[in-house]
Amino acid sequence: MKKLLVIGSLNMDFVTNVPHPLAVGETMLAQDLRLVPGGKGANQAYAMGRLRGCAAMLGAVGADLHGQRLKQNLSKVGVDVSALKESQEQPTGMAVITVLPHGDNSILVLPGANSQVTPAYVQQHLDLLEACDYVVFQLEIPLETVVYAAKEASRLGKKVILDPAPAVPGLPEELLQSLYIIKPNETELSILTGRPHDPARLREDALSLQARGVKNVLVTLGGAGSYLLREDGTEARIPADSTVKVVDTTAAGDSYMGALAVALSQGKDLEEAARFASRVSDIVVSRPGAQTSIPSLEELEESAAP
Ligand code: RIB
Repeated sequence: MKKLLVIGSLNMDFVTNVPHPLAVGETMLAQDLRLVPGGKGANQAYAMGRLRGCAAMLGAVGADLHGQRLKQNLSKVGVDVSALKESQEQPTGMAVITVLPHGDNSILVLPGANSQVTPAYVQQHLDLLEACDYVVFQLEIPLETVVYAAKEASRLGKKVILDPAPAVPGLPEELLQSLYIIKPNETELSILTGRPHDPARLREDALSLQARGVKNVLVTLGGAGSYLLREDGTEARIPADSTVKVVDTTAAGDSYMGALAVALSQGKDLEEAARFASRVSDIVVSRPGAQTSIPSLEELEESAAP
């Protein structure tokens, strides 16, 4: 099995359910508050561990209880956290998440220690970059670090995968040119292309990213599954399970990405890997929370049994 490295964020999520989105000036009394391990990078790494991938993570937590809990959670599923940084200046990242009755959410992230994942820190751990086959990024750490590490990984011949979340317009061309796969959702795709999402224009939008240097484009479309445009111009549509009762979409994209990378590391082709990832995120949206919702390989296999 090939080796995976996640470079990215770790957050403690403060989660509450709300009956409707907060209006400007509104004060709402919440029913309860749950603390759940999260962060887009940590969720990806956690999914890799749960699905028995061989994964390590580079990122930063604070010298506090949230940081310890996040590290333990990853360790428990076999992710190598030995190189995670412990910041003495910043607390562990936090996210405030409100979940609506039909499962959609709003997320406010306070980066804290994630802001200390610098190019210099990655440089200190180039051995991990050298040892892996796939490197997976998101955008909750400083962009300059993502650009530096992605270019370095690509120079070393690694396959670089980016989940452009949270999306920012005008990603540097040098980053896009390092990418083996980019995996935006519809909203992120529209931010990257600079025009409103139109399902009829998916191929055109994906081609525009390929023209900027990305090899393969995989767009997740929520309940409509995903769309793949391969390097050679061929396409595939991967369905999602339309019968799933959505409880909470938190970490659906992160777990999709973690599962995709595990499947690729086991030699599956892109379309097979996307099908595997879709099955994982179908389960994730049916459960509450970020890492709490990610199934183990055994649970996934059981769910597929007739
Ligand atoms: O994608 C979900 C994640 O986004 C949450 O776990 C939260 O921490 C934010 O990073």
